[in-house]
Amino acid sequence: MDRRNFLKSSCLLCGGAVVGSMALLESCGKGGVSPSAGNVNFTLDLSQSANAALKSAGGSVISHSVIVVNTGSGFVALSDICTHQGCSVFYNASGHDLVCPCHGGTYNLSGTVIAGPPPAPLKKYNISQSGNILTISG
Ligand code: FES
Repeated sequence: MDRRNFLKSSCLLCGGAVVGSMALLESCGKGGVSPSAGNVNFTLDLSQSANAALKSAGGSVISHSVIVVNTGSGFVALSDICTHQGCSVFYNASGHDLVCPCHGGTYNLSGTVIAGPPPAPLKKYNISQSGNILTISG
């Protein structure tokens, strides 16, 4: 390969990389398609140590991409998948809200967006209790 052909090939490769990067950045900037939560049907046993946090008001556990929170007056179950770009939200007990660590999206315990860029609420699941067993579905 002579010098001219080498430069032509290099320019084509660089151009392709730039166009690909720009397309990727553009899709990130728009947030792409909002991540969505799927249906679930599972139980959590409050007598198991992995779920011990749920015995106290303000405690939370994440399982099956669902965050279950003991609000002090009952339990709520919401998708933990932020509707902006899919990061996992966590429960902020002092603010009684769910916070996304990626861009500061914040949701109330109904799943409604109260701050930040998320375009849609968190999916809310049904939750019922029978003894030590919580059943989450929806
Ligand atoms: S992923 Fe951006 S606010 Fe959650």
